Amino acid sequence: MLNIVLFGPPGSGKGTQSERLIETFHLVHLSTGDILRSELKSLSSLGMEAKKFMDRGELVPDNVVINMIDKKLDENKQANGFIFDGFPRTTAQAEALDNLLKGKNTSISIMLGLEVIHEELIDRLLHRGKESGRTDDQDLSIIETRIAIYHRETAPVKDHYQKQNKFKGISGMGSIDEIFHRLEIAINATL
Ligand code: AP5
Repeated sequence: MLNIVLFGPPGSGKGTQSERLIETFHLVHLSTGDILRSELKSLSSLGMEAKKFMDRGELVPDNVVINMIDKKLDENKQANGFIFDGFPRTTAQAEALDNLLKGKNTSISIMLGLEVIHEELIDRLLHRGKESGRTDDQDLSIIETRIAIYHRETAPVKDHYQKQNKFKGISGMGSIDEIFHRLEIAINATL
């Protein structure tokens, strides 16, 4: 199985690149942000609970997202592999993911970290905020909170996979095509 963690701060292009990678490599896309937003849309109790954290730009509790991923892995037993987008976001989530995959006789193949400068992240998110209904993109202070939480709580997840020799940094600056090409080269090198 090919299991990719697409990593990087808010606005680094994880969702955008995942859409293309799932087609090229025939993978299932698991985005915890997308799953949470769909729970929110359906007004489920999980969605309502998560909303409080998402609106503030804070992380939803680990147990909530770990259970969501566990369920999705079970629903996609026949998959060639997965792209994890926006997960794991804490070291506890990374350890839980490793254990879940081990229980299914597989593991993470590679973590690809999209590297984008702060100003570009802010520009991209504010721009999307004007066009989309994403409330967490519409306020500069919430965007700054999301980025600060990324540096404080999520960036250490890179060390977790670096210790397993699975981390590869990729420049996330430039056109969507250029970045996709860099990711494709890195993935093909693992096959
Ligand atoms: P989530 O949905 O994961 O949001 P995020 O990490 O903040 O990421 P984004 O979707 O904003 O950015 P992205 O890197 O995917 O970039 P994208 O491709 O969209 O999480 C939202 C919230 O849910 C969190 O704050 C948290 O509350 C909760 N949550 C989710 N997962 C969780 C977890 N595991 N644990 C706890 N809580 C969790 O691109 C952004 C914009 O840039 C787009 O408009 C795009 O068109 C544009 N763009 C992309 N690439 C380029 C490019 N090369 N050039 C110009 N523009 C570009």
